[in-house]
Amino acid sequence: MSSSNTKSVVILPGDGIGPEVIAQARRVLAWASDQSSVALSLSDRHYGLESYQRSGEVLTAETLADVLAADAVLFGASGTNDHNDIPRDVKRRGSLLRMRKEMDVFANLRPVRMPDALLDVSPLAGGRARGIDLIFVRELTSGLYFGQPKLIEDLPDGSQRGVDTQSYTTPEIARVAEFALELARSRSGKLHSVDKSNVMESGRLWRQVVTDVHRNGHDDIALNHILGDNCGMQLVINPGQFDVILADNMFGDILSDVAGGVLGSLGMLPSASLSAADASGRRKSFFEPVHGSAPDIAGKGIANPLAAIQSVAMMLRLVLDAPELADRVDGAIDQVLARGVRTADIAVPGSIPATTVEVGDAVLAALTKD
Ligand code: IPM
Ligand code: MG
Repeated sequence: MSSSNTKSVVILPGDGIGPEVIAQARRVLAWASDQSSVALSLSDRHYGLESYQRSGEVLTAETLADVLAADAVLFGASGTNDHNDIPRDVKRRGSLLRMRKEMDVFANLRPVRMPDALLDVSPLAGGRARGIDLIFVRELTSGLYFGQPKLIEDLPDGSQRGVDTQSYTTPEIARVAEFALELARSRSGKLHSVDKSNVMESGRLWRQVVTDVHRNGHDDIALNHILGDNCGMQLVINPGQFDVILADNMFGDILSDVAGGVLGSLGMLPSASLSAADASGRRKSFFEPVHGSAPDIAGKGIANPLAAIQSVAMMLRLVLDAPELADRVDGAIDQVLARGVRTADIAVPGSIPATTVEVGDAVLAALTKD
């Protein structure tokens, strides 16, 4: 079993393209564990359809226990077309949202960086995407995703009504605001906080609590409040103005996809989700590519593994105390992109796209040559 300085990583490839991209990310983790600076124990577990077919559960109680005990979780993706065969209550019991909630990983970090090598892929003309280097702090365990009531009900006239509830409490807003303000201090000292306070009561509270937390020990940070709709537009017309963007669960979901669109592919967005630190300073942590299961291209070997590999780099940096290895992974990715070894989503126009495995091979080759 693990010695005290060995870190445990639980790997859940999951559904769709998850297994393909995680296989490549796992090779990078295995490379890292061969370096003297980190001691890792890697455990592979089934999740999603595969788990359901074996055990009748999408996420077994044992796997959930392993996830909750791990130093870090590497997750691929959730959701396939075949999921329609899984009963709703089974799906819900083992859902990605349930894992996020059980782990209480409220701070979801989604960095968005534009490598120069990919400027030819961005839909923004004239190099306007050049130099984008921003990060979302998305609240991940409350808001519209979890608020009650959440249901579809039958109405007397025979029609139905679907209800979701947007709800945030002061402590839920305060802890993620604190996290984002601290992160802003370690970067450029600038934070944009997203809300819809002109329409929503939860948005009014969001703005008020973020303002209070800012005033209370963080007023060295330049804080800008921005309405969610305007933020979407500003990400497209002037992405360079942003550094750290704080958003609730729903806005964070939407706006991070917008930012991925500005890069040209969701295949380049990694993420890390962290809980609060316990008494010993340890946080639960969950790493996943932003892109999801993409069932339309699953099993074809063409998915971009770089979001998953960058998620491993985030794990090395944030949890495994190996920033120098994280830098090497990021550097290897830059080299591979510059050499034009790229999957179809980011291929050099007119070139033959690389496969998922070829991109993994090229990253490993770049890592092991220096
Ligand atoms: C994401 C995804 C998930 C979300 C889905 C798969 C539940 O879109 O992580 O951005 O909405 O949070
Ligand atoms: Mg999303």
